[in-house]
Amino acid sequence: MAELLRAEGLVKRFDHFVAVNGVSLSFDAGVLTSIIGPNGAGKTTLINLLSGNLPCDAGRILFQGEEITHLPPHERVGKGISRSFQITTIFPQMTVFQNVQLPVLARLGRAGHPFARPDLDPEVRAEVEMLLREIGLEEIKGVRAGNLSHGDQRLLEIGMAIASRPRLCFLDEPCSGMNPAERGQVQDLIRRLAREWEVTFVIVEHDMDVVFTLSDHIIVMHQGAILTQGKPEEIREHAGVREIYLGEEIGT
Ligand SMILES: Nc1ncnc2c1ncn2[C@@H]1O[C@H](COP(=O)(O)OP(=O)(O)O)[C@@H](O)[C@H]1O
Ligand SMILES: [Mg+2]
Repeated sequence: MAELLRAEGLVKRFDHFVAVNGVSLSFDAGVLTSIIGPNGAGKTTLINLLSGNLPCDAGRILFQGEEITHLPPHERVGKGISRSFQITTIFPQMTVFQNVQLPVLARLGRAGHPFARPDLDPEVRAEVEMLLREIGLEEIKGVRAGNLSHGDQRLLEIGMAIASRPRLCFLDEPCSGMNPAERGQVQDLIRRLAREWEVTFVIVEHDMDVVFTLSDHIIVMHQGAILTQGKPEEIREHAGVREIYLGEEIGT
């Protein structure tokens, strides 16, 4: 399996608090990895380091063999790495179409022309409409994003994250606050994109049903470090994992 991303000895401190404490890991192409662990384990901080939203205090990151440790987020997007955020980050005043159009314009190199009418550009339009069909929001493309249901907002975010056509895509709690039907929809979308678009997803998720259904590989974080990692069935049986969740049921 081809290695997409490798991180070695990543460290992130906030003042004297060490949020990520020497994490080394790798993600292989086509392997869906979930990062789990209790609140405060450092999952979001780790994603921020890998996506370039936070600088590392130590360690290095290689993507397809090339060092990207100090690249800003937009340059990592250009190399094929994208992400969605734990807190919804759509533009609520803009329509669904306009939200998806933003990353499409960036990808096609058409951003930065504020007086142009990008929605009239046939290539941009076709790409945005294809993405809207993919995430199932084409019927409501004219609706302001702020008026969408929570579930549809999260679908929109996934659409925006994949608009850059990433090889590797981090999703931070894509199913948070969703009802079971919405969770099912997101899981189907992630599976389809992984298969048809060959996107390698790394997801942070609290819902253990989602984690155990989707994952090929699971990394367990605790207090800024990797406690263990392995196949879902190995993690389910791991005594230490049960312990850090203090009796919470893990996917049973
Ligand atoms: N910007 C920040 N400033 C200070 N502390 C932070 C910051 N971001 C995260 N932390 C702390 O780092 C720890 C890990 O946070 P986070 O990565 O968000 O955990 P998780 O996503 O696993 O719940 C937490 O204790 C959190 O309070
Ligand atoms: Mg988090």
